Order: sequence, then C-alpha cells, then structure tokens
Amino acid sequence: MSFQALPGFRDFYPEEMAIRRHIEGAWHAAAKAAGFEEVDGPPLESLDLLRAKSGDAIVEELYAFTDKGDREVALRAELTPTVGRMIAARAQALRKPVKWYATPQLFRYQRQQRGRLREHIQWNVDIFGATEVGADAEVLSVALDALRRLGLTENDVKVRVSHRGVMAERVRTRLGEDAIESTLRAIDKGELSPAQAAELLVAFDVDAIPELDALHAACEDLGIDKYLEFDPRIVRGLAYYTGLVWEIFDRKEKLRAVAGGGRYDTLIERLSGPSMPALGFGMGDVVLGELLKALGKLPPGPPRIDVLVVPIGDEMLAPARQVVRRLRLAGERAEAPYAPMKVGKAFQAAESFGARRVVLVGPDEWREGKVKVKDLASREESVREVEKL
Ligand code: HAM
Repeated sequence: MSFQALPGFRDFYPEEMAIRRHIEGAWHAAAKAAGFEEVDGPPLESLDLLRAKSGDAIVEELYAFTDKGDREVALRAELTPTVGRMIAARAQALRKPVKWYATPQLFRYQRQQRGRLREHIQWNVDIFGATEVGADAEVLSVALDALRRLGLTENDVKVRVSHRGVMAERVRTRLGEDAIESTLRAIDKGELSPAQAAELLVAFDVDAIPELDALHAACEDLGIDKYLEFDPRIVRGLAYYTGLVWEIFDRKEKLRAVAGGGRYDTLIERLSGPSMPALGFGMGDVVLGELLKALGKLPPGPPRIDVLVVPIGDEMLAPARQVVRRLRLAGERAEAPYAPMKVGKAFQAAESFGARRVVLVGPDEWREGKVKVKDLASREESVREVEKL
C-alpha cells in the first residue's frame, strides 16, 4: 500500500523548502525593517471563536471536529481571530500602536483550484490602536517591501484599493440594510448582475472616499504610489473589514490575489476587548510562489555546505571528523562522508553540494598535522596545517 499527502496538502522536499524559506526570509526582513514584532498563536482554536470572528466565507471552510475532551475545535483558517483574541486579552497593557507580524500555516477546506490549496503559509502584518491613514500606508509599504526583496516591483504587481465602509453605505442607501452582506459578497466574487454593477460600480465616485486621497499622499512619501489603482470591486470577502481595503495582484492579472487586507476597526470590541482600531493584511506563499516562478525570479537553491572533508582510507575517518568539528566551530558549514570516498567522487559530490572547498585528509599529511585544501573556484591546491584551518 502506498501513501500520498492528502489532496491540497504539500510535501516540502528540499527544493520546495528552499523556496518557502526564501519567501519567508523576505517576509521577516520586511516586517523587522518596519518595527513589527513577531507573534504566533495556537494552530487549533475553539470553534466558537473561529465561527464568530472569521469572515463567513471562511467559516464554511473550517476543518472542525470534536476533540477527545468533547470540545468543539477547528484548525486555524486565518490568524485574525487569534490575534484579535490576544490583543483583546491584553489591550490595556500593550503599548499602542501595537505592531505585530506572524507567519502561520493555515487550513481551509476549499475546492481545489489554481493558487488555492487546503493548507498555506500566510504572512500576517497588523497594527492595533492607530486610526491614522499613515498606518494604512505603512502596512501596505511593508507588503510591497517584501515583494521588492523578492525581485517584484511596480512593473510586476499592483495594488487595487477601495473602501468597504463606503461601498456598504452605498449598498444600504440603494438596496437596504439587509442587502449589504450578500451584495458585498457578490461584488467580491465578481457575481453582480450587469445592472447592479452599473449602479454600484461604474457610477462610483472616487471623491466619495477622502481617505483614498490621504492614502495616496502617504504612499507618495513612501515611494509606493505607482502601485495604487482605485477599484470599487475590491471589498474583501471577509465581513469584519470596515474601511480602506486592498488586494495585491500581478500586473497581468493571470493569478489570484497575492495578498489582501484592510481596516477592521470593530473586531477587537466584538472579541470583548476595548474599542480599538485595527488594520493589516495576509499574504500567502502559494500564489506568490507561482508568480515568482512565472517571472523567473526564483533563485537557485542555497549551497548545502562550504567545505567537504574527504577521508582518504578507513583510518582517516576519525581525523576527518576532527577536521569537520574544527571547521564547524570556526563557523563554516562542513561535512564528511561516513565512509572513505574516492577523490574523483568527492569532487563531484562537492560540486553538487555547492561547496567552495574540498579538504583531503590523507595519512601522509595527517602524520605531520596537515591536510590538502583545494579551492573549487580557483582550482588552487595547498597543504595547510590543521591548526590553522
Ligand atoms: P484572505 O484574503 O482570506 O485574508 O487571505 C490572504 C491571502 O492568503 C490571499 O490573498 C492568498 O494569497 C492567501 N490565501 C488565502 N487562502 C488561500 C488558500 N486556500 N490557498 C493558498 N493561499 C491562500 C485573510 O485571511 C485575512 N485574515 C488577512 C488579514 C490579516 N486581514 C487583516 N489582517
């Protein structure tokens, strides 16, 4: 009987893991560069929290079950309810504005489609306790900074921005309070009838949103205004958003959204916390990985080691281990095979590992406390004292 990963779940072989770490590296660097602190929460939460505080679209996709203690639980499908719960619990003690980021693995039982899996890694960057539009511009600039670090610029991606609160109000005055949720969902999914679209989207007046001007100005200061594009179809699929909302897309619009976020100024209060403005975004690794691949922006995998240490003959296995130990203590990435290796094979292995040097440990040199060192780039060979490696 042979086994495979469940549909929608990934195995990360070294090549895929290297890509994941490459992406996560840019996320950590961009968040840290802007003063965000890293947090995490539990992968399993009470079903009540996730049901009450996730967007409805996500509630339908929860991996939920009853645990052995008869608790109704679910795997986290987004981080926002968890982070909101953490903030609500310590709202008074935390110094505002709170700037947090996290890189959780999330689980959604979704119909599989390109760019949508049942598990993904999602970078979350959020600010709590800031009403100013400078905060909206900042989270957006952090998202774009990570993409820049990965080689994606304004030529590759764009940000479609709008205001969920203003659109909700527009729907309320035209169609009534009860129509708000369903209509916003239809807008998010691109499922409005042509007549509704004409009324709600085409005739939309950008000047009705003063925050957009302010966002644009702040984005100019941050050098990211060229990414922005107003688009009334952006309302976000999750009901907790209240204000400015945005999504990042590839310029060719071939793929699904790379990231999405916005303001959710009432969620903390609804989690029994104080009234506290909040905003942020999520960026997944799946669509981003596809985009980097499509644009040829994935770097070759990092080298496995700096130095391969080769024992020439059985009796040199122990000396080779000692050399490895010495090199590692000196901060080099080094390894030796567990059995003696022919020199030709050793050089092939060293090349494939991306090593820069090969150290040959042979009985004659070893008796004098020396080893042979070959630099793979310059092809230079020298005999060196082990003490001075
Ligand atoms: P979301 O739009 O559901 O927002 O997800 C954000 C991003 O995560 C998407 O743009 C996409 O790149 C990625 N993503 C979502 N679902 C999947 C999936 N099934 N497979 C692969 N990638 C996926 C939220 O989750 C909000 N909680 C984000 C947020 C944080 N808003 C404020 N703070």
